[in-house]
Amino acid sequence: MRTRAAVVAGLGGYLPPHVVTNKMLAEQLDTSDEWIYSRTGIRQRHVVSAGMATSDLAVEAGRRALASAAATGTATATATANMVILATTTPDYPCPASAPDIAFRLGLGPVPAFDVSAVCAGFVYALGVGAGAISAGLAERVLVIGAEAFTSIIDPRDRTTAPIFGDGAGAVVLRAGERTEPGALLAFDLGSDGHLKDLIRVPAGGSRQRLTEAVPDPRDYYFAMQGKAVFKNAVQHMTASLQAALRSAGWGLDEIDWLVGHQANVRILQLLADQLGVRREQAVVNIDSVGNTSAASIPLMLADGTAAGTFAVGDKIALTAFGGGLAWGSVVLTWPRIELAGAPRDAVESISQPA
Ligand code: COA
Repeated sequence: MRTRAAVVAGLGGYLPPHVVTNKMLAEQLDTSDEWIYSRTGIRQRHVVSAGMATSDLAVEAGRRALASAAATGTATATATANMVILATTTPDYPCPASAPDIAFRLGLGPVPAFDVSAVCAGFVYALGVGAGAISAGLAERVLVIGAEAFTSIIDPRDRTTAPIFGDGAGAVVLRAGERTEPGALLAFDLGSDGHLKDLIRVPAGGSRQRLTEAVPDPRDYYFAMQGKAVFKNAVQHMTASLQAALRSAGWGLDEIDWLVGHQANVRILQLLADQLGVRREQAVVNIDSVGNTSAASIPLMLADGTAAGTFAVGDKIALTAFGGGLAWGSVVLTWPRIELAGAPRDAVESISQPA
């Protein structure tokens, strides 16, 4: 078996400061704190301010992850990376990708930088691509970021989506290391089902339904979701995917310490734990304070769990995510020692904007 592996070496998260509570939403929409909390587990979400884009969040999360890798302090640790992968559904522009701008603003030089589009499964896909680049010798250190200004594609008048989503960014630094080290990404499972592509989509603005001067229906430019069908598929695919990743790693379910599932709905996480036969308390949750942040969800949960001291060095952790496409993915690892350089809710003096 190959021993070279991608190892988690640094971690960071960033949440924009503006918070929208359920009560604030209920002042504009026919909904209530009681409905939103009991159906989803969400109490509030962080939302970008006017003029703030996905890359602005990504740069801050990336900066924190690079500083965390340097602070975590292996002999070779430096605040640098030679590849940047951004998982996002909400890039700054339809063209070009946002990752090159992020790499530039982080001062990383002319490194390869590109976006990965797999909606809420995007971060796990991007980890897989980053790990593959390290295994193939394409890069020694990869900055993998999940970032979303997701509320930019949400119709504020749509009560079926507006309460669910929030904005934020999370990032990890992967470095080349050995499979035996804590933090090594040991086994992946990635999958998709395009047959169900219409369950989650933004109908217009792509090559199928193009931008035109005369907008046929402005709602087509917003995110739409068939919630009930998505719910069922999320539980089913995350369960099967995680089981497959565990089998590849040779780990039993009884060995798992923490289940880090995509924060889409607390009831999905509880059912996932039930299906897998692990205790519900093992499924960590921060959706109450951040909502569904799509590609940022998993790294933000990792950053929150680390800041709270939930994960101990050596804990066995299983990550799993699911979203539009449909696309899903899982990966397992043993938790490494990580020094954070700031918690996701820490303020910044001024958010980095493009020059
Ligand atoms: N406030 C109050 N009532 C609402 C509401 C809101 N914000 N949104 C919907 N309702 C109403 C519906 O109109 C419906 O009313 P009716 O019974 O009179 O027809 C009722 O609440 C139930 O709606 P339903 O859509 O069946 O609710 P649900 O229990 O399926 O919960 C979601 C909706 C979106 C929370 C849930 O389906 C979900 O979490 N789905 C998965 C989402 C997800 O994971 N998305 C991201 C992909 S990764």
